[in-house]
This record gives sequence, structure tokens and C-alpha cells, in this order.
Amino acid sequence: MEKDIITLGIESSCDETSAAVVKNGREVLSNVINSQIKIHEKFGGVVPEIASRNHINNISGVVEEALKQADLTYNDIDLIACTYGPGLVGALLVGVSYAKGLSYALNKPLIGTNHIEGHIAANYITHKDLKPPFLCLIISGGHTHLVHIKDYTEFEIIGKTRDDAIGEAFDKVARVIGLGYPGGPKVDKMAKDGEANIELPKTHLDNLDFSFSGIKTAVINLHHKNPDINKSNLCASFEKTVTEILIENTIKAAKQLNIKSIALAGGVSANSYIRQEFINLEKKGYKIYYPESILCTDNAAMIASAGYYRYINGTKSDLTLNAIPNLKIE
Ligand SMILES: Nc1ncnc2c1ncn2[C@@H]1O[C@H](COP(=O)(O)OP(=O)(O)OP(=O)(O)O)[C@@H](O)[C@H]1O
Ligand SMILES: [Mg+2]
Repeated sequence: MEKDIITLGIESSCDETSAAVVKNGREVLSNVINSQIKIHEKFGGVVPEIASRNHINNISGVVEEALKQADLTYNDIDLIACTYGPGLVGALLVGVSYAKGLSYALNKPLIGTNHIEGHIAANYITHKDLKPPFLCLIISGGHTHLVHIKDYTEFEIIGKTRDDAIGEAFDKVARVIGLGYPGGPKVDKMAKDGEANIELPKTHLDNLDFSFSGIKTAVINLHHKNPDINKSNLCASFEKTVTEILIENTIKAAKQLNIKSIALAGGVSANSYIRQEFINLEKKGYKIYYPESILCTDNAAMIASAGYYRYINGTKSDLTLNAIPNLKIE
């Protein structure tokens, strides 16, 4: 039997300080997430400088807690995977610097990991049977990407948003109608009591790209013109329309690539309506995957998983690793 590979994952790209211990890329031994949501809530969004300072305060404790919960010591770790982009530069630098320090002190390999590859890899943790190739719809706070996952470390972006990311649109709508931050989960909850009876615009592009600024602005204008509008109905209509946009493009891509396996990834894939509508596609012969909710939003277990696949494919970083705020996936 081959030796188990234990990865320590570190994530600090936005407002979650997280560390996780993952065995062989798929089995989570611990996943500690220190969220700063309460701190940033009063500002209506993440304040980068405050996020960086809190990462600095939290990181040692979070890493130690992850090892403790996994019942392991630093010596048991085979490699260290950290997010080096995309994200907020000051926030990223905390995790990158900490991981570099650990790698040097422990003499263990360092793997700089792409946060978006991490969101994709969250599916490997939840679905032990999932293997490339498949199609992945990444719907997060900063991204809306349709990606052909050709292999564990081989990706092709086949569609992306031309303007707002879908999570951004959820958060903006929530803020304008007074639901607060972060808006996605609040819109999700509010929509459950509503009826999708308000017609909203859909932007059709002639390729597989997305656009959400039109619908976002339409919701905001409707609310400004009529502040007494039924918020539940507005949220339900917004969710229904954006889901139709997501499904139309995803199915178009799946047909073009002749792929039946579709995975969702990123924070917005925790949305209950979006999940249900995608699950309904199973009746049409598609197989739908999505990570368990805690793995949809930022966490280090997904970073450990993506880092593990980079490592077994021969990637290694050195101590020149730096934060890259606008890092793309290949
Ligand atoms: N149930 C939900 N319904 C809709 N949106 C949700 C839900 N839960 C979380 N979100 C949204 O997910 C986003 C956060 O997801 P995630 O952590 O993946 O994004 P991010 O890390 O900020 O951005 P990125 O990963 O693109 O860099 C926020 O926009 C949040 O509102
Ligand atoms: Mg994220």
C-alpha cells in the first residue's frame, strides 16, 4: 500500500482565516475556519486592511487548532498548500508568508495554490467518486466561470462574466433592499417565502459568457421606484432569473463538449434554489455534483485538496512565492 500523503492547507484570500489537514487530497481530518463576517458586517463589506490585521492575529491559532483537531503534529505533515491568489493582496500575504515560514522551518514542500482551483476541488472532498473530465460552474463572490476540467490540473475557461460576479450581484441586491451583508444567504432565505412573479431582464450573449449587471440594476431600480415592493417576491424572481441564465449556458456548454457530469463550486453554490434547479437536470440525464455547504464558501480543506493534486502532478513552489491578487486559472 502506498504511503498516505498529509497536506496542511492554509487559506487567507478574503475574510476567512482557515487551516485544514487533508489526507490523500480527499479525506478531511480537520478544517478550522475563523470567519471575520461579524467584524466586516457593520461596514457592509470586507475592509481589506482590517481583514489583513485579523488574519495576522488569527493564523497561528487556526493552524495549531487544525493540527490538534486532526490529532497530528507538524512532523506528520507531508506538504503545505497555501492560497497565493486570487484575492486581497494584504490578506493573501499573511497566509503565503506563514506557509513559507512553516515550509522553511519544517523543511517540507510548499505548494502555492489557486483559490479558484480550490473551489473546484471542494467537490473531490464531498464526492469521492468524482474524477475529471467534467464541467464546473464556479459561482462565487468574485467569479462566474464555466470551466472544462480536463484533468486535475488542466483547465479551460469556456465562459465567464463580462461584468459582475454572481455573488457580487446577490450581495448588492441584498444591500440595496436592506438585508445586510453577506447578502447571498439572506436572499436565499427571503426568497423561500416569495413567488417569482416579477419579470426581470436576461442578457443573452452569443457565446458562453454571462452578464449580471443588467438584472442587478433592474432589481435596484425597481426597489428605488417602489420601496414597498414585496421583498420576498423580488428575491425569488431574482434567483429564478439568474438560475435560468446559469442553466442555459451550462447546458449549452455541456452539449458542445458532450459532457454529462456537471459540478457546481463557490459560495453561491450553497444557494438552495440554484442547487434544486440543477438537481432537476438529473431527469434529463445529467449527473450533478456540488460540495457540502461548509466547503462551498472559503475554507482551507479545498486548498489542501487542490494543492495535493498539484503536488502529485509535480508542481512545487519555492520561497520566492508571492501573492498574486488577480491570479487566473490556466
Ligand atoms: N446561500 C447562498 N445563496 C447565494 N449566495 C450565497 C449563499 N451563500 C453564500 N453566498 C455568496 O457567496 C459569496 C462568497 O463565496 P466565496 O467565499 O466563494 O466568494 P469569495 O471567496 O468572496 O470570492 P472568490 O472565491 O471568487 O474569490 C458571497 O457573495 C455570498 O453572498
Ligand atoms: Mg472564495
